[in-house]
Amino acid sequence: MTLTVLISGRGSNMVAIHNACERGELQARITHVISNNTSAAGLDYAQQHGIKTTVIDHREFTDRDRYDLSLQSAIEEGAPSLVLLAGFMRRLGAGFTRHFEGRLLNIHPSLLPRHPGLNTHEKALQQTDAWHGCSVHYVTPVLDGGPIIARSVVPVHHGDNAEALANRVLAKEHALYWRVAQMALEGNVRWRDGHVEYYGNRLVYPLTL
Ligand code: GRF
Repeated sequence: MTLTVLISGRGSNMVAIHNACERGELQARITHVISNNTSAAGLDYAQQHGIKTTVIDHREFTDRDRYDLSLQSAIEEGAPSLVLLAGFMRRLGAGFTRHFEGRLLNIHPSLLPRHPGLNTHEKALQQTDAWHGCSVHYVTPVLDGGPIIARSVVPVHHGDNAEALANRVLAKEHALYWRVAQMALEGNVRWRDGHVEYYGNRLVYPLTL
C-alpha cells in the first residue's frame, strides 16, 4: 500500500504518518510528498528519509483547474492507494476531488462540522467552546465539508490561548490520522455514495478515537 502526502508547511502530520509506517502500525509506505510551497519544511524531512518530493508551485499557474490537473497527474504517476492532505493549504476543485473520490482524506484542526476554514483555535476560544479537537474526513469540493470519518476531542482549559490549544490538538492529530488511514487501507472504512461506510454500515455519527 502506498501513500502520497500533500503538505504546505511544517509537515508534522506527515512525519507522524511516516513514523507510524516505520513502526509497522500503518501498513503502508509514503512514496511521494508533494508541496505547493518550495520552502515547506516538511520537504527536507521527506528528502532526508528517502521519500520522493515534488513541488508544484501554485504561483506559476494563473488557472486553478490547470493547477489541479498538474497536481493530479503528479499524484497519479505513483498510483497511490490513498492521498492524504496534511496541512495542504490549497482549495481543490470539483474535478480533482471527483477524480480521487474515496481515496482522498484531509485532517482538520476542529471538531467538524464546527469551525471549517482557518483560525479554528481562535474561533473555539472566541465562542467559548468547552471541547475542541480534530477531524479526518473525505475530501469533496466543499471546504472541510466532506463526510467525517473520525474525530479526537480535547478539553478547552480556562486561560488557554490559541497556541496552547493548537498544541493540544496537534498531539491528537498525530495519533488520529494514521489510524484512520490504516482503517481505510484495510477497507473497514469506505466511501460509498457520499457517505462513510464503517464495516459495511453507513456511519451515522463520526467515530471518536
Ligand atoms: C494541522 O493543524 C492540520 O490539521 C492543518 O494544518 C496544520 C498542519 O500542520 N490543516 P503540519 O504541517 O502537519 O505540522
